Amino acid sequence: MSSRFVRACLRQSVDRTPVWFLRQAGRYMPEYMAVRKHHSLLEICRTPEIAAEVTITAAERLGVDAAIIFADLLLPLTPMGLDFEFVNGEGPVVHTPIRSADQIAALRTDRAEELQYVARAIEKVSAHFAAPRPDGDELGIIGFIGAPFTLASYMIEGGGSRNYIEAKKLMYGDRAAWNLLMDKLVTILIPYAKQQVEAGADVIQIFDSWAGALSVSDYREYVLPATTRLVQAVQAMGVPVIYFGVDSASLLPHMKQTGADVLGLDWRIPVDEARTLLGSNVAVQGNLDPITLFAPQDVLKQRTEEILRSNAGQPGHIFNLGHGIVPGTPVENVIAVAEWVKQFQI
Ligand code: CP3
Repeated sequence: MSSRFVRACLRQSVDRTPVWFLRQAGRYMPEYMAVRKHHSLLEICRTPEIAAEVTITAAERLGVDAAIIFADLLLPLTPMGLDFEFVNGEGPVVHTPIRSADQIAALRTDRAEELQYVARAIEKVSAHFAAPRPDGDELGIIGFIGAPFTLASYMIEGGGSRNYIEAKKLMYGDRAAWNLLMDKLVTILIPYAKQQVEAGADVIQIFDSWAGALSVSDYREYVLPATTRLVQAVQAMGVPVIYFGVDSASLLPHMKQTGADVLGLDWRIPVDEARTLLGSNVAVQGNLDPITLFAPQDVLKQRTEEILRSNAGQPGHIFNLGHGIVPGTPVENVIAVAEWVKQFQI
């Protein structure tokens, strides 16, 4: 396939380092806010025409090598039987968080079909980008799902969390219920990922955004087995998997054991150190601090090129941020970073 993004995921040779940005379609972008004025976040996610438009606009505006489908990590909660909403300024709120074995037993895993609107949006994005771009490269299309731990943390805490007390209480306190929850998440996430792949996703990114809250022992004992099953089931669909976490430097060698093709790096570990730690048989994605996008352009350019140099031309590097673009980020700085990555020569 002539997509430098997919080739880099597979550690194949590329003409230059591919680039895209976590949360490239978001509130920092006026085009996105114009759509948000008329539609809620969930309306955008559930309307394939609008989700596709938002996805395409962000990728084209920034000139990146991949488009991530506009959706949200928490969408599978609805077919599982958990109601949630996005409260302005507060993030997601799950109305009745799960705290007991009975509630976990009651979660449904047989309604992944209800998530088909994401696949319909991917089909539209895929059709839009079917032709190669002027430079001959095919734009990569990224589908995504949440990882079992990160999704469980929202289901149990009821929203974002600082210390994950409820999630860890359940994890430590009721091993059978925790394992059932991990299993149920994997059961619904596999067909959901498959819908996305069949619709045209070239790569699936698995977001384990909050795994960094776990010690290495707890990650290995409570999270790694289910996550490994999920990664391998997605790879069996014929696409590479990017496995991403934040604050994950000490977990990286363990996350690698899932067998993921690419590991997401946050900005707390230099790319060369991560590559030494991980060895040459896995690709990496990252890892500019998203807040550096607020720096003067000379500093921003220096940090961007430092990351590219730090990879030293090894195959299997995708340039990205260490976490998502935040509201207020100057769009022109994001575009400038994409441009510098494209011009960089080792
Ligand atoms: O270009 C893109 O990346 C957009 C697609 C996208 C969204 N959510 C849309 C969204 C993606 C890839 C996600 C993933 C997601 N959702 C994650 C993992 C990524 C990460 O940041 O680690 C998580 C943890 C969620 C859950 C979630 N959704 C939270 C915690 C929040 C509130 C935080 C915030 O930024 O406000 C959301 C809301 C959300 N999902 C927004 C967007 C663009 C912003 C809110 C809005 O538009 O009203």
